[in-house]
Amino acid sequence: MDVKHYYNPHGEEILDEKIYGGNPTGFVDFNKSKYRWDSNIYDLMNANTWFPSEVNTSTEKKNFDKLSPNEQSIYKMTFAQLSFNDSAQEEYLSDFRSLASNRLVKSTITLQMMQEVNHSKSYAVLLDACGNSDEVFNLYKYDDMLNQKNQKIAEQFARHIEGGSADKMLLSAMASVNLEGIYFLLGFSYIYLLGDKVPGARDMIKFIARDELNTHLPLFANIFKTIQKENKIQTSTIDSAYTMIEEAVQIELEYGKYLLQQFPIMGTTEELMERTVYNYANDRLKKIGLRPIFKQSETTYLQKLVTKHQEMNEVKSNFFESNVSNYAKSSIDLNDF
Ligand SMILES: [Fe+2]
Ligand SMILES: [Fe+2]
Repeated sequence: MDVKHYYNPHGEEILDEKIYGGNPTGFVDFNKSKYRWDSNIYDLMNANTWFPSEVNTSTEKKNFDKLSPNEQSIYKMTFAQLSFNDSAQEEYLSDFRSLASNRLVKSTITLQMMQEVNHSKSYAVLLDACGNSDEVFNLYKYDDMLNQKNQKIAEQFARHIEGGSADKMLLSAMASVNLEGIYFLLGFSYIYLLGDKVPGARDMIKFIARDELNTHLPLFANIFKTIQKENKIQTSTIDSAYTMIEEAVQIELEYGKYLLQQFPIMGTTEELMERTVYNYANDRLKKIGLRPIFKQSETTYLQKLVTKHQEMNEVKSNFFESNVSNYAKSSIDLNDF
């Protein structure tokens, strides 16, 4: 890496820095935000800061032991998969960040990386309290479908991460839109279905879901739209973005249906899962400025569960004095388009 990478006094003005390409000078100045959404999302991420120790996990083992065998399996298989998502996301973000030029966007990604690590820590704290940490973290070795889902997510992350063009960077961003916006969602709703039976897991997921859906997804949706706006992106690249979200829907439904077939629990059907994932995928496409392509249906019970817990979390967050600022900041504009 040459010296200019760190300090480039003849580089461009901060307000001219694009996400892809260009010649950044090397300063982070939060008073000069080219996009506004970057510093808004940074502030909201900071306001939402939480620690696993804020969640009461003292009765998790007792509660887990009272679950039915199917519910216990859903619990373990869900955390086995979600914990992979966060581990992979941290590593991916570090690689994606190196493709970007705009320093404020990079700084926001840095904070996101910290939050993904915090999520990994929270799974460890929860599963340790539950007494099955080793078992859950090792499930990928014994379950083919779990292993396959992880493998496919990893493959999407790796596909365009070498960069080298705005088109490749755009598709790399798409992998993250899929992760934040699709691969977590059935997992979140399973834990919410167990709900009051495992309040430790439920509350931990509420915090994680708030980070993923309120800040990480908007960050990558804005990154996607901005790369598209700032560069001449080929039609075939947009076609590839559609293909990637179609794959994501398939990956999410494959694992979801597998869990349901193996461990049926109350209130879920394959059809409900399909409608839920299609609706989410359409919403994500709209968020990145593309046309929805999946069959749209009424908001489903699982979506409502996720939304309800998001809203409860907004109220709950007031309980933690340090996070009172959430209220003030949750209404800020995260989208300049
Ligand atoms: Fe995460
Ligand atoms: Fe995330």
